[in-house]
Amino acid sequence: MQICKSPKETEEIAMEVAENVIDGGVVYLYGDLGSGKTVFAKGMAKKFGIDDFSVKSPTFNYIRRYGNFYHIDLYRLEEVDELLEHEIRELMSEEKNTIVIEWADKLGGSKFPDGIKVRMEYMGENERGVEVT
Ligand SMILES: Nc1ncnc2c1ncn2[C@@H]1O[C@H](COP(=O)(O)OP(=O)(O)OP(=O)(O)O)[C@@H](O)[C@H]1O
Ligand SMILES: [Mg+2]
Repeated sequence: MQICKSPKETEEIAMEVAENVIDGGVVYLYGDLGSGKTVFAKGMAKKFGIDDFSVKSPTFNYIRRYGNFYHIDLYRLEEVDELLEHEIRELMSEEKNTIVIEWADKLGGSKFPDGIKVRMEYMGENERGVEVT
């Protein structure tokens, strides 16, 4: 587990992780409200040269696309319905796609493709624990 002492440090770790999925792959993000998942996704987006990354949680459309980079935020969802699950699986089946998912635990128990798992933890006002596996 690494300790990030500022949002910038979290973004930097995210940029390193992004290098591993630059040609495609899935990053599953776990952690409570305010633990820094969106900051992490934003850091990844930077590595992809995306500067119009939206930090707002989507209200009805859970998937945001930036070229081959997809940001999915399952916040607010009780659980993922069949249609959304199908849509997510379709995106994951395209090898060139890079997908980062906030609240990945809401994907439920069924098997999803292997990916990088990032667990985030609130530790103090400007401190977050980040564990990458
Ligand atoms: N070391 C840090 N790493 C990341 N964010 C930090 C850090 N220190 C302070 N913050 C602040 O904590 C907040 C993290 O919010 P963020 O939206 O990324 O969390 P989240 O996990 O996506 O929450 P939600 O579940 O609501 O989507 C931001 O306001 C950010 O500026
Ligand atoms: Mg968020």
